[in-house]
Amino acid sequence: MTTREECLELDSIDPIASLRSEFSLADGELYLDGNSLGPISKSARAAVDRVLGEWQGELIRSWNLFGWMDTPLKLGDRIAPFIGAKAGEIVVADTLTFAIAKLTLAALEQRPDRHVILTDEMNFHTDIYILDAVANYAGRPITVKTINRNELAQHLNEEVALVEFTHVDFRTGEALDLAGITRQVHDAGALMLWDFAHTTGAMPVDVTAANVDFAAGCGYKYLNGGPGSPAYMYVRTDWQDKVNNPLPGWLGHARPFDFEITYEATKGIRKFVTSSPSILALAALDGALEVFEKTTMTEVRKKSLALTDLFIELVEERLPGQFNVVTPRDHAKRGSQVALAHPEAYGIVQALIKRGVTGDFRAPDIARFGFTPLYLRYVDVYDSVEHLVQVMENSEHQADEFKVRNAVT
Ligand SMILES: Cc1ncc(COP(=O)(O)O)c(C=O)c1O
Repeated sequence: MTTREECLELDSIDPIASLRSEFSLADGELYLDGNSLGPISKSARAAVDRVLGEWQGELIRSWNLFGWMDTPLKLGDRIAPFIGAKAGEIVVADTLTFAIAKLTLAALEQRPDRHVILTDEMNFHTDIYILDAVANYAGRPITVKTINRNELAQHLNEEVALVEFTHVDFRTGEALDLAGITRQVHDAGALMLWDFAHTTGAMPVDVTAANVDFAAGCGYKYLNGGPGSPAYMYVRTDWQDKVNNPLPGWLGHARPFDFEITYEATKGIRKFVTSSPSILALAALDGALEVFEKTTMTEVRKKSLALTDLFIELVEERLPGQFNVVTPRDHAKRGSQVALAHPEAYGIVQALIKRGVTGDFRAPDIARFGFTPLYLRYVDVYDSVEHLVQVMENSEHQADEFKVRNAVT
């Protein structure tokens, strides 16, 4: 079994250990929740301060002086390498649910003779809600089918217009086969929309190699862009002239300041901008991305797998038979989180939080821990498991104070 000393040794030779100092994390903070809300980095704070200064000093002149209007595209180009996209294929705007809505309607228009959307019955609930809702606005009857994702082949036929899956399962941390599923969907003549909420910044993917049509992800999880950070939309280059933004607004117009009453979409990915960019939120994301630019996603992925392997090993050896590790052991099928199923998972997560180990609970029975290599140390993994052992030994999770669930779990 790996010892605490060995973990300290691993930290001492970790090539990206120094990146922890880019964040302002307290020493005792064992933060295993960067998969829900990444922590603030010094560069994110500095970037927000800079933009506040621009706003204060130059007021509305800032839009021209500091190129604010192009921020959604500039940030899109910086996110592109995370998913293997090309420059000009990503725009940062809206939040993820809205992004999925826009891309779904844009995709449906490209398959006018087909009337089915397939999605995963285990998908994040917002994806299912918004697919169901936008189906009513497609201008023709559309059926949304929630399926067992392992039975996709059985459901793919000439009626299917679009498949929307989340690439890394938010509960189990299972990463799906991006290229294989996209190919299968294309072979059936349908289009593919991926939700990369738990992928971007957590593990590298290659949308270009996989020939993905559309994708969307969020800025507040592994990218550390801050609470409510904007989403991004990816539209493959060859789709950009064909598709329409179903929610057109003035800032996706070819000439927004001509104030024409007829909409004419601008060229390229910018047409997916509907309204004014959230400049302060974009500034935080801009600063947050600087940290990633000091390493590579290959390095991040290597450490992520090592951290999750270590966590699984320690939980199994120190708490044998107490938890069901539902996250795949196979590296190719693992995102950057580990999910432990236990009937008392809510109390366990709360007892850990009380001890300074922050994870989260996902109904019905998952204690979920995110592993973010930019600031987590191997010794943090060791210490977190030590706390978990003590919680279980002392039955701290059964305390009355954890019987009523918080609004955010
Ligand atoms: C997989 C997935 N999709 C969509 C969302 C919703 O994102 P938003 O609140 O930005 O609309 C989340 C939020 O956690 C998520 O995990």
